[in-house]
Amino acid sequence: MSHLFAPLTVKSVTLRNRIGVSPMCQYSAEDGLANDWHLVHLGARALGGAGLVIVEATAVAPEGRISPEDLGIWSDRQVEPLARITRFLRQHGAVAGIQIAHAGRKASARRPWDGEGQWPIGDRGWATVAPTAEAFGPGLERVPQALDEAGIARLQADFVAAARRSQAAGFQWLELHFAHGYLAHQFLSPLVNRRTDRYGGSFENRIRFPLETAQAVRAIWPQEFPLTVRLSCTDWVEGGWDIAQAVEFSRRLKAIGIDLIDCSSGGAIPGVKIPLVPGYQVPLATQIRREAGIATAAVGLITEPGHADAIVREGQADLVLIARESLRDPHWPRKAALALGQKDALSGPVQYGRAW
Ligand SMILES: Cc1cc2nc3c(=O)[nH]c(=O)nc-3n(C[C@H](O)[C@H](O)[C@H](O)COP(=O)(O)O)c2cc1C
Repeated sequence: MSHLFAPLTVKSVTLRNRIGVSPMCQYSAEDGLANDWHLVHLGARALGGAGLVIVEATAVAPEGRISPEDLGIWSDRQVEPLARITRFLRQHGAVAGIQIAHAGRKASARRPWDGEGQWPIGDRGWATVAPTAEAFGPGLERVPQALDEAGIARLQADFVAAARRSQAAGFQWLELHFAHGYLAHQFLSPLVNRRTDRYGGSFENRIRFPLETAQAVRAIWPQEFPLTVRLSCTDWVEGGWDIAQAVEFSRRLKAIGIDLIDCSSGGAIPGVKIPLVPGYQVPLATQIRREAGIATAAVGLITEPGHADAIVREGQADLVLIARESLRDPHWPRKAALALGQKDALSGPVQYGRAW
């Protein structure tokens, strides 16, 4: 039976356990370049025992950054600083993953500790693009430019180029960020996408941008490496994107060779009430796993080792991603191994031997 410390093989890649560090923006880059902060932050979590460490939302184009301090992968210059990180992660037993992203209408924002809202255009900020010329709402009030077909094709080419650079940087696990109200999710949600062309309206039309993007990336991303998608599986709003659509979209993604769906939720619509209880998104991962027949990752308020272990043992998801708890404690995986009586599952760095 699978459990939290059973290895997971996806394509040619084997994770030493079912614990992944969820992508988390650090808002600490200049010109999109990874630096010592990213190396130490991510490296610490590999030392802590995670099987997979996913680098934060990394922008495929400068105007796709959430904030001016986001990581980027739109230039060859950005490859080597990331390669320094993948080498370290691999040396310490973690598979190196990266999430590539475009924020669409939610771009050009201040990072959390620089206050609220978007930077003015020309003063650290920039004009944004989206499926439809409608702002997100309070806090992010810039009206984006609606993409034309040429713009859509350019962005898809940006995702493909970013995937090639991810490979060049040594990543073996690639995640497409289609969640949290960013660009791809803006196409998916009927409450955001008001287009009347072939990229809007019906379900088939709304999934077209992300599905084509995933297909184009799959065509160049090595077949032996996992290609995964983070979805918001529901908008938590009547009439919005929902789990039934997410299940059907996951089936389509599976059919074009996507290996795993990372099941998150929300982010497209402001002011939505989300039922924040431990594991609140796990049922979404379970339903997609069962009904679309694809591997899933569960994320969101999973902090207890026994809970994480049960998610895997009971087949609710194949992989558990930890975000904030991993910020509190980079050594969460090793502590979880001890708590679950699996001490031998994780041999730590020899330098730390006397601590465990
Ligand atoms: C500081 C911070 C940055 C985040 N950045 C990203 C990101 O870059 N991409 C993403 O998909 N989710 C991001 N998230 C969401 C997390 O990956 C995760 O889905 C969410 O925090 C719920 O998991 P948790 O309860 O374990 O924190 C971020 C969360 C935090 C706390």
